[in-house]
Amino acid sequence: MSSCPFHQPFFPPPLKNKASLLFTFFRKRRSWLDGLYERSYSMKMGRVKMPGLDLHVINQPDLVHRILVDEVKEFPKNQLLGHLLEPLLGESIFTTNGEQWKRQREMLNPSFEMTRISHVFGLMNDAVQEMKDHLRGDNTENHLDIDPEMTYVTADIIFRTILSSRLDRNDAVKIIEAFVTFQEETARTAMRTMFKIPEWLWFLSGENKRIKAGNDIRDILASIIRPRYDAIIADDTPNNKDILSSLLQAVDVDSGEKFSFEEILDQVAMLFLAGHETSASALTWATYLLSLYPEIQERAYHEVLNIAGEDEFNADQLKHMELITNIFKETLRLYPPVGFFARENTQETTMRDKTIAKGSSVVVAPWLIHRHKEFWENPNGFDPDRFSDPKSIHKDTYLPFGMGARICIGSSFAMQEAVLILATLIREFKIELQEGFVPDVVGRLTVRSANGMKIILKRRTH
Ligand code: HEM
Repeated sequence: MSSCPFHQPFFPPPLKNKASLLFTFFRKRRSWLDGLYERSYSMKMGRVKMPGLDLHVINQPDLVHRILVDEVKEFPKNQLLGHLLEPLLGESIFTTNGEQWKRQREMLNPSFEMTRISHVFGLMNDAVQEMKDHLRGDNTENHLDIDPEMTYVTADIIFRTILSSRLDRNDAVKIIEAFVTFQEETARTAMRTMFKIPEWLWFLSGENKRIKAGNDIRDILASIIRPRYDAIIADDTPNNKDILSSLLQAVDVDSGEKFSFEEILDQVAMLFLAGHETSASALTWATYLLSLYPEIQERAYHEVLNIAGEDEFNADQLKHMELITNIFKETLRLYPPVGFFARENTQETTMRDKTIAKGSSVVVAPWLIHRHKEFWENPNGFDPDRFSDPKSIHKDTYLPFGMGARICIGSSFAMQEAVLILATLIREFKIELQEGFVPDVVGRLTVRSANGMKIILKRRTH
């Protein structure tokens, strides 16, 4: 087992005991991680009860399986999430339920089949090569915050693979800034809604800012999609082999209908958000972990050289990079970008001899399950080799992409992209942490570092 004698990957120290409601509210307004306490990481099931909210946190693997796989209809996605994301995503697959979700998933599935994922490899690689050239800069050492760079490259990849369009750096800045505002205000709105704080308390409400940020992002996406949509409606021939054209061609098997413009815009906004924010978060954490563990970084460097030498990468080579794949898997264990999944209970039921009332909320949190003391040896340590033997991973305890019917549609896409980006960075640079830097881990829509990720890229001499 690898260990790091000087640094343990940082995570916010939990409270010793369950905190008072008022204290929790003010701490959690910044980040839901701040409301966790020590027992959250060892309990099987916990409950938060307050006026208007009855919430059960489920860590026990067979119950997690029940909620996400066996009884997915009885535990649909929580409507609060749909309401929170609506200004940006409209009625997109990430938050819909029932027949509406089924229709959307069937229409999106072909866009994410393996053949299409390997087909988009070239488009991904173009964006990653540009990232590399940009990061090389003019000096042999580049001191930088890697977080915006990971956000930019993953957003650029989504633009190229979904829309066949390069993401202009100016548009990127507008989108990224709008999205930061959206995330911050959404976290506040979530807390306000859960704690039943009325909206007229203006100093707590950023609803207008939130709606404007969502609209700004949708306007940029709409301006790209509109001409393609109109062209396809006009002559019905696909004009590109990207994911947008497969969406524009997709038909509902029952009605024979295509997606409307608004529906396409909702799905593209969702793919843009789900497809870059999650990957950017995980890749930023991966560079942090690599910087803490230079010996693992060296092993990964030799793996890349053995498999690809100095050649340009191809999709097949990436599949053989076992250590880099495991580094990414372990990153997703320690810093799962989607830290919790919120579901609603539609029927009274029992779990661990406790009644779970109809209408209560049920939360499955990879953040807790991935660090649970009973399921993982050295739960807070970074040990990519634990994934070399998949049998050693307890059943239903590793779920960065979710499980069951609502499992992430983009997981293969994300894995291919991540291994490509990490292999490119590792072959080109030694990654070090800037002296004294400690990331400020926050849980918003995704798990991020509030103060960025200050690293040094030292160019390797091959
Ligand atoms: C490291 C990167 C990623 C992570 C960790 C991740 C994680 C997740 C998780 C946990 C869910 C399920 C949430 C739940 O059950 O409540 C999900 C759903 C989804 N993800 Fe990802 N995702 C990633 C990348 C992507 C990419 C690249 C795309 C598309 C390009 C994508 C598209 C989606 C979609 C469409 C759904 C909704 C599926 C449905 O409800 O049917 N994700 N993702």
